[in-house]
Amino acid sequence: MATWSNFNLQNSASPLMEQIIFFHDHTLIILIMITILVGYLMINLFFNNYINRFLLEGQMIELIWTIIPTITLIFIALPSLRLLYLLDELNNPLITLKSIGHQWYWSYEYSDFNNVEFDSYMIQYNKSTPNNFRLLDVDNRIILPMNNQIRIMVTAADVIHSWTVPSLGVKIDANPGRLNQTNLFINRPGIFFGQCSEICGANHSFMPIMIESVSIKNFINWINNIF
Ligand code: CUA
Repeated sequence: MATWSNFNLQNSASPLMEQIIFFHDHTLIILIMITILVGYLMINLFFNNYINRFLLEGQMIELIWTIIPTITLIFIALPSLRLLYLLDELNNPLITLKSIGHQWYWSYEYSDFNNVEFDSYMIQYNKSTPNNFRLLDVDNRIILPMNNQIRIMVTAADVIHSWTVPSLGVKIDANPGRLNQTNLFINRPGIFFGQCSEICGANHSFMPIMIESVSIKNFINWINNIF
């Protein structure tokens, strides 16, 4: 989860988020190289006296400064496209979690297990104890098994919300009257937080997502005891 003054992306807890971080770093390196080059050239312009009174056109230099940015863009576009298709791929999910956005809470359904369903409200900060994560803790957590392919189906009951969990690399809009699909794979146990990221009304900031990742054995135990 994010801690104080964290300027970077959160640590990844899924293979897809790992790939997103790799792509971010790759693109940032290219961005830094361009910024340094252009900055160097611009500073140089201020400190020389070269003037060419007869300069009207230069075919060769125009060809060069068109082709070089094109190649640079290809180096960003191809990995980006690869990531796009990777994020969209479902690999035979073991279980499906349906999450429905409401003003202002999430409700969840485990359709594979006798349609277990529950609402998940934020713990109000005036009722919060030192054991709670302020503005992120919920009354009913999502329990999911780690090291398993999981399908997430997302929709909304009233307005558009967005189911977003940064450390798992998931960000998908919840639209009323539509069913969106994504997938995730959690590769370690722990608690992972997310927040709604579609401006959905007064309490938009107060409908967090809390995922508890456990072993498959503990997950089965939990799902058995919930009935
Ligand atoms: Cu729901 Cu913002």
